[in-house]
Amino acid sequence: MAEQRNVSENTGADSRSARPGAEGSPSKDLDWMQDLPLDILRRHAGRGPRYTSYPPATAWHDQIGPADLHAALAHASDQAKLGNGKPLSVYAHVPFCPSQCYFCACNVLITPRTDLADAYLDRVDKELDLLAPHLPEVPTTQMHWGGGSPSYLTPAQMRRLLTAIGRKFHFSADAEIALEADPRILTFEHLQELREIGFNRLSMGGQDFDPAVQEAVHRDQSFELTAGFVQQARKVGFSGVNLDFIYGLPKQTLESFARTLQQVLEIRPDRIALYGYAHVPWLKPMQRRFDAESLPDPAMRFKLFQMALQTLSGAGYEFIGMDHFALPDDELAKARRNGTLQRNFMGYTTAAGTDLVGVGLTSISYIGDLFAQNERKLNPYYGAVDSGVLPATRGLRLTAEDQLRSDVIQSLMCNGIVDKAAVERKHGIDFDAHFAKSLQLLQPLAADGLIDLGPDRLTVSDLGRILVRPLAMCFDAWLPAEMSGMQRFSATV
Ligand SMILES: C[S@@+](CC[C@H](N)C(=O)[O-])C[C@H]1O[C@@H](n2cnc3c(N)ncnc32)[C@H](O)[C@@H]1O
Ligand code: SF4
Repeated sequence: MAEQRNVSENTGADSRSARPGAEGSPSKDLDWMQDLPLDILRRHAGRGPRYTSYPPATAWHDQIGPADLHAALAHASDQAKLGNGKPLSVYAHVPFCPSQCYFCACNVLITPRTDLADAYLDRVDKELDLLAPHLPEVPTTQMHWGGGSPSYLTPAQMRRLLTAIGRKFHFSADAEIALEADPRILTFEHLQELREIGFNRLSMGGQDFDPAVQEAVHRDQSFELTAGFVQQARKVGFSGVNLDFIYGLPKQTLESFARTLQQVLEIRPDRIALYGYAHVPWLKPMQRRFDAESLPDPAMRFKLFQMALQTLSGAGYEFIGMDHFALPDDELAKARRNGTLQRNFMGYTTAAGTDLVGVGLTSISYIGDLFAQNERKLNPYYGAVDSGVLPATRGLRLTAEDQLRSDVIQSLMCNGIVDKAAVERKHGIDFDAHFAKSLQLLQPLAADGLIDLGPDRLTVSDLGRILVRPLAMCFDAWLPAEMSGMQRFSATV
């Protein structure tokens, strides 16, 4: 954990009082998580955006297209020529999976066929050709392949995709190059090839190792298989391995999840993403396969989360925020300690101050003040690139007000502190006057000890780090319009 608290603060201290949750070195003090106040969690947990972007994607519209992306890239190129260029991150989306996990809320195309990838990669090549003349002359410091399951590609197809991207982007020597993989369709050959072509981080889905849960979610994946790939990844030289798990899945019990957590500790990945199951059957009809009775109720969700928090923290993991944990020597934990942690579409990340270029179906670019998302359906995506047009079809251009609020939300979510004077200097506002309504909305959360509303800074408490989404929502100017559609969002805990 990264909090500072001395023994005298412990003694008789109200566990609800706000304490800095973001500064200093990892703390050994885990007291605060022993007995989470369920009444407070319940009071503030609801539905809300995950703030992988601000404004959230629910606020974007379809008036953004290729011309906007061209203009944003042209501006970035001009800045680079003036010596003010930002480095790039690149995201490539591989949408395919061979079978459907019933819980899945990702953008996936399920197909047992393995011959579709070449046609897809042909189109990504075309998209890269369309993008290349507009890319700024700056180094690329990070690349991430997500999905779906990029491990659906064969080793040769992975090399093909990496080579195509490498021809258009200039990777820095220390670039972080990561991909998401499904252990059920990964091979040792994949791992060797990935290392050879430069990948250094691997993220795999674990979800839950209990057989009853796996059967309920249609995902048969043994602990041994997952542990074996982590071991092999380390052997061939991956410098970091991440595993994803989910609490709140059908059939999960405290006992079964405790066993899964012990198995996670046996593997000891560098990072753990522990997502709360997002049950959004109106968006993902496959989730209707779950019998509502088999889903843990909200009280059980809290207990599962608390147990995971205690188990992982007790075993030396730092709680990065919301749903991420990392070993203290992992870059994510270091970034949190030195205040450079960021949040983007991949969740918490170390990619500070980069512009993001997305390629492939549904992928998102964030260049300067523009969010632009690609086509979300395969045929229109193919149609656009085949006719020589960038496939951007929706997004948002941020106003100065959006950027201000985005900065405040990032500070809350990543570093747990909002320095009012710094925000005032950067954005030319009077913080207390500008955010009078937000500060008022924060009062009940402050009364419950989630945040300290000091005269100079807002400081998120340890408890507040679990409920950081409701805190961020107080600064979300788009939310009132979205409130009627709150069921579009997932549960905040
Ligand atoms: C693209 S997948 C990871 C790679 C690979 N497809 C796999 O499943 O092994 C991204 C992650 O999102 C998480 N996820 C998917 N659907 C979710 C949901 N409904 N609620 C919470 N997490 C979810 C899972 O933990 C999953 O590992
Ligand atoms: S969880 Fe991963 S493997 Fe399962 S359907 Fe979703 S993207 Fe595919």
